[in-house]
Amino acid sequence: MSAVVVMQTPESDQAARYARVVASSKKSEWQIDRDLLQGRTFDFSRKFLPDALSQVDHLDFLTEEEARLLSQIQGRTYAYIFGLVERFISAKMLDQGRAHIFDDQLALEALVRFANDEIKHQELFRRMEAMIGSRLPAGYRQVANPNDVARAVLAASNWSVLALTCHIELFVQSHYAESIAPREELCPLFRDVFKFHWRDESRHVVLDELEWRSEDAKLSGVQRDQAVNDLIALVAAVDGILQAQSASDSDYFIRNVVRPFSLDESTRIKASVLSAYRWQYIISGVQHPQFARLLASMTTPTQMSQIQAALAPIVDG
Ligand SMILES: [Fe+2]
Ligand SMILES: [Fe+2]
Repeated sequence: MSAVVVMQTPESDQAARYARVVASSKKSEWQIDRDLLQGRTFDFSRKFLPDALSQVDHLDFLTEEEARLLSQIQGRTYAYIFGLVERFISAKMLDQGRAHIFDDQLALEALVRFANDEIKHQELFRRMEAMIGSRLPAGYRQVANPNDVARAVLAASNWSVLALTCHIELFVQSHYAESIAPREELCPLFRDVFKFHWRDESRHVVLDELEWRSEDAKLSGVQRDQAVNDLIALVAAVDGILQAQSASDSDYFIRNVVRPFSLDESTRIKASVLSAYRWQYIISGVQHPQFARLLASMTTPTQMSQIQAALAPIVDG
């Protein structure tokens, strides 16, 4: 008897991908206290965020202690920003899951698990904020409210929110794999938080791509034009938050260092923190090879150059 060749249709390939994500999600379930925190606290004698992300090594006039404090402040903001974006990501994935309620039950389960992961991550980041906040001086400020940001983001077209989400979840992975994992000198608990986070996010990007592509297939040319405009506006809004948070974090740092900085040094600190935040939350995502490929495959060359033109002032600083 001749072998039966099963042709994978795009639909069955999609179903298989959702199924694999569900299986992997079940296998790697973890709890905040039992598996990650295990009663540990953050080690303030070490840096939190690595230099490759914080860029504190660009400020050659800082002492070791000052550089460490700036890395810890940026590490606190790093957790805050993820908690902030995960508010809209979990809400969006609940909506995406709802769209599957009468079809593929594994797609529904994959997206419900995705939303559930982000709810857990938000709890983790809130607890992290309280733990770090109890050890750092008073006066740190979060410039944006997660619900306000989520309401504004979710008002944009589905395609643009899925694109922004995919971009975020891809840079989460490269930050951990390329910059956090290799640095053994960082605070061990800080590294572990982002190791557990990275594991979940590596499943999320599979779903981001599936959901983004299926949304893309539904759009007309005019709708995609609008979606591209929305994506540009979302990135500009993210940049607005980064400008305000970097200014707040720089002032907080400068206030809490014993010696006074010169005007030139203060200016350099502010510029460097803004450039680090733009690298962390925008540039490392849009330059991620997989994101660049996906975006190019779902846009026309004209739309791509529109996006590039909008990004130029951020990328060039
Ligand atoms: Fe997350
Ligand atoms: Fe995620």
